[in-house]
Amino acid sequence: MELLAKGAEANLYLEDGRLVKERISKKYRVAELDLRLRKIRTQREAKLLENAKRAGMTVPRVFKTDIRNYKIYMEYIRGRPLKDVLESADEQEVKNLSGKIGRALSVMHNANIIHNDLTSSNMLYADGEVYYIDFGLGATTTRIEDKAMDLVVFKRSLQVAHGDKFRIIWASLMDSYKSVKHLSEILARVDVIERRARYMEAS
Ligand SMILES: Nc1ncnc2c1ncn2[C@@H]1O[C@H](COP(=O)(O)OP(=O)(O)O)[C@@H](O)[C@H]1O
Ligand SMILES: [Mg+2]
Repeated sequence: MELLAKGAEANLYLEDGRLVKERISKKYRVAELDLRLRKIRTQREAKLLENAKRAGMTVPRVFKTDIRNYKIYMEYIRGRPLKDVLESADEQEVKNLSGKIGRALSVMHNANIIHNDLTSSNMLYADGEVYYIDFGLGATTTRIEDKAMDLVVFKRSLQVAHGDKFRIIWASLMDSYKSVKHLSEILARVDVIERRARYMEAS
């Protein structure tokens, strides 16, 4: 057993070539709540990964879910964090990758899936494809507000992680996100959320 990563809530390791994501106990949580959150997030992540794959997104395949032990066994993606790839990419590559992401997010939102923790660290780049991971906070929803919020969160994380390339990334991403249903309503809601946030910061 080889520990690959220690996340905020999970240990990730390789077992027989498969990636195991095991949600571990957080001592600061009341025991009962801790068990419940680990169970819910494990179930949710496995289900959303399966739904996302069915919708046509590139995500790791889920082999098995072991709810009792808060474990998901999934395909191991031998790749690099997209964050690093974007940092070292030239302008054309940045545009290509951002275009791929925008298209994938439109597919995801059209399938009424939101991720809720979109960052370039929750994406892996392998074999010319972008893989989306870490769906434990995601949800199934038809609400415009939820889809808009998914974009707002992602936009902020990109501004922080890729300040100098942000404009190029976001322009390409939005250009390919255009195929989403209810585009104008979602974008209008993004504006409302961002204006509200600026107002709160200023006052
Ligand atoms: N299917 C996978 N294949 C390869 N690496 C993975 C996979 N899933 C997760 N990882 C690695 O483990 C890290 C943490 O996983 P993630 O699901 O994002 O958990 P956390 O909720 O702790 O952030 C990822 O950033 C990635 O480096
Ligand atoms: Mg993560």
